[in-house]
Amino acid sequence: MRVRLASRQLAANLSDADATVQSMPDASPAKWHLAHTTWFFETMVLKPVAAGYEVFDESFNFLFNSYYESVGERQPRPKRGFVTRPSLAEVLAYRDHVDRAMETLLESDLDGDLTDLIELGCHHEQQHQELLLTDILHLFSQSPLRPAFTDPEPISSEARETAPMTFLPFEGGIVEIGHDGSGFGFDCEGPRHRTLLEPYRLADRLVTNGEWIDFIEAGAYRDPMRWLSAGWADIKANGWTMPLYWEKRDGTYWSMTLRGFQPIDRAAPVTHISYYEADAFASWAGKRLPTEAEWENAAQGLPLSGNFASSGRLRPLPAEDLDAGPRQMFGDCWEWTQSAFLPYPRFKTAAGAVGEYNGKFMCGQFVLRGGSCATSEGHVRATYRNFFPPEARWQFSGLRLAEDG
Ligand SMILES: [Fe+2]
Repeated sequence: MRVRLASRQLAANLSDADATVQSMPDASPAKWHLAHTTWFFETMVLKPVAAGYEVFDESFNFLFNSYYESVGERQPRPKRGFVTRPSLAEVLAYRDHVDRAMETLLESDLDGDLTDLIELGCHHEQQHQELLLTDILHLFSQSPLRPAFTDPEPISSEARETAPMTFLPFEGGIVEIGHDGSGFGFDCEGPRHRTLLEPYRLADRLVTNGEWIDFIEAGAYRDPMRWLSAGWADIKANGWTMPLYWEKRDGTYWSMTLRGFQPIDRAAPVTHISYYEADAFASWAGKRLPTEAEWENAAQGLPLSGNFASSGRLRPLPAEDLDAGPRQMFGDCWEWTQSAFLPYPRFKTAAGAVGEYNGKFMCGQFVLRGGSCATSEGHVRATYRNFFPPEARWQFSGLRLAEDG
C-alpha cells in the first residue's frame, strides 16, 4: 500500500490535462501509468485468484495493457494520449476499487507464488513511478511556460567544480555477478553466474556537467571521428549539439528540470544523454564505458544509499567529498554500460504472461546501472539491470568512465 500511495502522491501535482497528454511515442501519459499499474494487479492477481472479484470496467484491458500479447489486444503505444476518457478522477476511482480488492485478498492465506506476483506488481509500479516523472518532464519541456513539477526554487548556479576524477583499480579474475534468488529480483537479474574480468579501473564519480561543457566546447558534437556510425547518423538527423533539455542563453547553459528551467550546475552529473553521447564522451576522454559486470563487481557490498526520488530534489547531486570508494554508484543518474541487454547464462523466461516482462526485450538495447534521482528508494540493487535503446535520452541517464587496468 505504501508503493500504491506513492503513485497517488505523484498524481497530486497534476491536472487532468497534465495527466492526459502524450508528448512523444516513447512517453506515456501520467494517467496511463496510474491505470496500467492498477491493471497489472487486476489482470495478474485479482482476476485469476480473487473469488467474486468484479472487474471495474471491461474496456480497461484494451486501454491499459502495455505489451502483453498473451493478455490480448491493446491501444497502440503512440496513441495512449488519445485516451481522454476515462478522466483522471475515474482512473483514481479504478485505483481505489483495485486497492480495496487487494486489501481483502491480502487478509487471506496466500501461497508463495501469489506473494511473489504481488511483490512483482509493487516493483513494477515503482518502475512506472520513475517513468511517470521522466515522461512528465518531457511533456513539461514542450510547454512554452516551462512548468515545474515540484517546488521551482532556484538551485545554486555558482560555478562549482568537483574534485578531479580518480580511477579505482579492480583486480578482475573470475567473479560472480547476478541475483542469487534471495529477496526480490527481476527475472533478468539472474541467474547468478561466473564471468571473467580483465583487470580494470573505474572512475570514482560520474562525469559532471562542467566536463560535458568542455566536451561541447571542444567541438565534439561536430567531429565524426568521436562517434559510433549509428550515433553520428542520429546527431545529423536530429541536430543534437548538447544533452536533451539543454539550452544556451547569453553564453550560459540552462536546462529544463522537474523544478522548471534552471541554470546548469557544473558540479552535478550530466544527465539526459544517449548511449551514443556517453560512448563519444568516453572516446574523447581517452577512456571507455564500463561493462555491466565491471560495474556490478565494483558495486557489490556497497550500501544502497544515494540521491533517490525520496530526497525530493529530483535532480542529480554533485559528488560528496569522500576519501575513498566509488561515489554516486546508486541514485543520481543511471549509468550507461557498454553491455548489450542479453540473457545471462541459463536464463529462462517464466511461464505465463509475466514471462513477457523482460525476456522479449533482449535485443537492441543497452544496460544501465545504479538508479537515479527519480528512482524509488529501495528499488535498485547492485544486480539491477535497467535497459534502453542507444538513442534514448529522456531518462536520467549519465555515465561513469572506465579504463583497462
Ligand atoms: Fe508496465
